Amino acid sequence: MRNAGYMKEPEDKTTSDGIRKGRFTEAMDPAFARFNASISFDRRLYEEDIKGSIAHVRMLGRQGIITAEDARKIEQGLEQVLQDIRDQRIEFKEELEDIHINIEEALRKRIGETAGKLHTARSRNDQVALDIRMYVLKQCDLVGRDLARLMSVLADSAERNLAIILPGYTHLQRAQPVLLAHHLMAYFQMFRRDWERFRDSTARTDEMPLGSAALAGTTFDIDRQFVAEELGFSRVTANSMDAVSDRDFVAEFIFNSSMLMMHLSRLAEELIMWSSQEFNFCNLPDAFCSGSSIMPQKRNPDACELIRGKTGRVYGDLVSLMTTLKALPMTYNKDLQEDKEPLFDAVDTVRGCLAIMSGMLPEVTFNGPRIMQAASDPSLAATDLADKLASKGKPFREAHELVGALIRRKAEGIAPSEPEEEVPTPRQMVEARRHTGGTASVSVTEQIAEARAFLDQARVGKPEVAGD
Ligand code: ARG
Repeated sequence: MRNAGYMKEPEDKTTSDGIRKGRFTEAMDPAFARFNASISFDRRLYEEDIKGSIAHVRMLGRQGIITAEDARKIEQGLEQVLQDIRDQRIEFKEELEDIHINIEEALRKRIGETAGKLHTARSRNDQVALDIRMYVLKQCDLVGRDLARLMSVLADSAERNLAIILPGYTHLQRAQPVLLAHHLMAYFQMFRRDWERFRDSTARTDEMPLGSAALAGTTFDIDRQFVAEELGFSRVTANSMDAVSDRDFVAEFIFNSSMLMMHLSRLAEELIMWSSQEFNFCNLPDAFCSGSSIMPQKRNPDACELIRGKTGRVYGDLVSLMTTLKALPMTYNKDLQEDKEPLFDAVDTVRGCLAIMSGMLPEVTFNGPRIMQAASDPSLAATDLADKLASKGKPFREAHELVGALIRRKAEGIAPSEPEEEVPTPRQMVEARRHTGGTASVSVTEQIAEARAFLDQARVGKPEVAGD
């Protein structure tokens, strides 16, 4: 019965039919009204929406497009609406379609018909483009902080475990000994690049679209630069049609999130493997494991498995948005309302996974003796033996063959026919790789120091931004 009788009560301003009044003679189909509404998810944008509106109305007042008094009245009303929403004193209504109309109606309840002047020189098309840009910019910052925290606990773990030597793997076959800290710091590098990707895409998102109006700009004498400065944007968008119709910056955010999830899934997978009885390289904290409802002995690495599993979900968000954007004709199309749920889902998933991984890692303990035992497998010295022969003048290919044959004969239980080269210890092998990027203690200590310097300049440890 939501819209029943609306044409008979044109003074009723409590439905989004308010914006249909002039043009339409029939009420919206109730099922379509529900289908069309985005308030159930775009309510998240209320802060951005109101801050954007305040900047806009200040500009309208300064430019004399509306009176200074009206501008002041609207601004105060918006501040009150913001407080009301924060205090959960406003009930959002599906009949009011989206966050933009819900807020305008809340403002109308507060200050009366003057509220209708807020939308001068603006359309929901540039309004929603602004809200989403502000939201993505904020989330880039928040994900960046979450990532910095994870990088910091990774560096801590590397430092705590500097003494442990691990078999490094290729093809999941034991290959060469490395420091466990070197292995952990490899993830630091992945997450550093992820951090940089979020920062770099911020530069492209940082453009203020308001003033584009529906698609062509506006006939009013607006000051876009002022609005941009009020909201902390570096510049205004250069083309009104592009500004209301593209969401490439949203796709970029979800791509960055996907890449980050891919890296998280690799780390999660290794922790799952390493904590298995077969490896027994590490112990995951009780607080991040679950039990089995049937097998009393089980201690399952669910936190890691969920991180691994949720990676697919974020990839799905990316494919969903890219497909929504594909072949959209200019300019705004309602398809674009479908940008929000994948974005919000990616934000929640990525931030959730980062929080879990950062909470768990400091409590992950490594089984040093067991790892060192695996790293003492003498076949891991094969490369170093071949290197040694090569450094004495033997062509490396020949040395490779010779050592390969030696290892095969050993595996078959046949004693070596020639006197063996002295087999280097894992420690000697690790410490021999002293160059930048190598696994020697000096190199890894240097890596950790550089990682700490990076985190200092990335401003870790700043308090979380309020409100999220
Ligand atoms: N809820 C809409 C969205 O998210 C707001 C923009 C509506 N614009 C329009 N022309 N119907 O995209």
